[in-house]
Amino acid sequence: MIKRLLINHLFLLFFILILSACSTNRQAVTKGSKTLTETIDQRFKHAGTQYKLLMEDLPGDKLPKTFVKANNYLETSGPDWWTSGFYPGTLWSLYEETQDSALLKEAKRTLKLLSKQQTNEKLADLGAIMYNSFGTAMKIDPELSYQKALLNSAKTLVKRYNPKVKAIRSWDTRQNDKEFVVVIDHLMNLELLFWATHATGDSSYYKVACNQAETIWNNHVRPDYSTCQIVTFDTKSGKVKHKRNAQGYNDESCWSRGQAWALYGFTSLYRETKDPLYLEYAEHIATFILDNPNLPKDKVPYWDFNAPEIPNTYRDASAAAIMAAAFLELSGYSVENGKSYFKAGETMLETLASPEYTALLGANGGFILMHGAGYIPVMAEVDVPLPYADYYYIQALKRYKVLTQSGSGVNASFKFP
Ligand code: GLY
Repeated sequence: MIKRLLINHLFLLFFILILSACSTNRQAVTKGSKTLTETIDQRFKHAGTQYKLLMEDLPGDKLPKTFVKANNYLETSGPDWWTSGFYPGTLWSLYEETQDSALLKEAKRTLKLLSKQQTNEKLADLGAIMYNSFGTAMKIDPELSYQKALLNSAKTLVKRYNPKVKAIRSWDTRQNDKEFVVVIDHLMNLELLFWATHATGDSSYYKVACNQAETIWNNHVRPDYSTCQIVTFDTKSGKVKHKRNAQGYNDESCWSRGQAWALYGFTSLYRETKDPLYLEYAEHIATFILDNPNLPKDKVPYWDFNAPEIPNTYRDASAAAIMAAAFLELSGYSVENGKSYFKAGETMLETLASPEYTALLGANGGFILMHGAGYIPVMAEVDVPLPYADYYYIQALKRYKVLTQSGSGVNASFKFP
């Protein structure tokens, strides 16, 4: 009996020793690991070094599109591809954070490449392309030529507006006279139009932007606040002909990047108008994301919230980066939910900043983030770096820096980068 008690006590002692060793270890890890705030400037530096490697391989008249690891190939585009504004915009932001003149030189060089697009009436993404590049430059080092490029782009873009549909035409089709396509992605054109009204006092741009937002809210956003990507209207009557998804899993599913564009778009609508309706819209979109059982704990979404293969399918770092930037901004506007939006944005950023998503120096063709999902249904740009993932990641890091350094975390009343 005594022997058994002794053994039991020894066993208990051993167990306590193991537990306390584990807890000492855990403390050591916590003490040793640095927070995102503590490492944020290193992250900008790392990103700047990556982009200096990326620029070495870039042909003079091209912009980076993605990197194919299997054959070490940098895929590029011309300046009229929808992603062309992100590389210059990221360079400007990284220059602002690091003051590295090589980044500034490349940023200015690539703006020149884009300049001709300001009169391109066929470019449905003109607003996003020009605002993310020239618009970012204007915030950092304004020049008259940038202002002219932005204003001309706004004038060009509104030529695609249809007052019956109350939206800007997204894609040109052979059926232009009969069909009028509007995609949720093009909420991202609207910041340029607000900028144009602020710059000129002409409210017509502002009205077009609000009308387009309303058209998208009424037609692309479903009753459960998920979104569909494409709505086709009758060009003459403005009536809805059909709704579908191209980049999502199927017509009823919720494509994650589309949901991210909606979150970012309606948040920016609230920023520009201060109309509480847009805050309400953004919060409904946010609730769909945060309450979705298919959103992983680390908060980087799968490429579609309804992909049947979840959890055995691709994540989309670009959707997470866009959402992170939007959640951090939204955290400053929502009195009720600010803290949970901040936490969501922070978790997304922490995951993206981890080695799981951030490439090692010199890897990933010079892009910053890995694991983006471009167009999964046609297996194009699958599990790759994407320039828009990098752009919104850097923007989110900048927002996080401002929010955490302001000491408030939520409800801050400063200008968001
Ligand atoms: N077409 C824009 C996107 O892929 O998000």
